[in-house]
Amino acid sequence: MSARSPRGLEPADEARLVEAARAVRGHAHAPYSRYQVGAALLTRVGHVYAGCNVENATYGATLCAERSAVAAMVAAGDREPIACAVVTAGPRPGAPCGICRQVLIEFTREARKFKVVMVAEDSRGKITAKKTGWLAELLPSAFRLER
Ligand code: THU
Repeated sequence: MSARSPRGLEPADEARLVEAARAVRGHAHAPYSRYQVGAALLTRVGHVYAGCNVENATYGATLCAERSAVAAMVAAGDREPIACAVVTAGPRPGAPCGICRQVLIEFTREARKFKVVMVAEDSRGKITAKKTGWLAELLPSAFRLER
């Protein structure tokens, strides 16, 4: 299995990534918004790291699913994500927030080739909508610390 191929993200890898995001979404701690989010990252070596949103009574301390997944990846010693799946409730797929886009960029050398798969599912877990994009499109002119 090669996570990265000339054609981009293999369909089997994309399916595995979406499945991991769907599964972790059920663990979300979202008592305030009631909006559960699951995210999963696929890294160059083929590992998948999942994360969900973790809300807080102060609201501002809330952690998004994408950043939870990044924390899991970094904690495991992996640093090279090549794709991210985000699963939310429908009707339309949710896109990573601006802070998460910036955090994903931090670990991405080629944001033009970093695929973001956004999936909506209904209350029964049936996928109702999907869209894909590239991280570079989602966050053009990203800040990078260069000195
Ligand atoms: N949320 C995420 O987990 N990821 C995003 O990119 C956008 C928003 C969460 C944060 C909060 O728990 C809930 O969705 C509603 O904003």
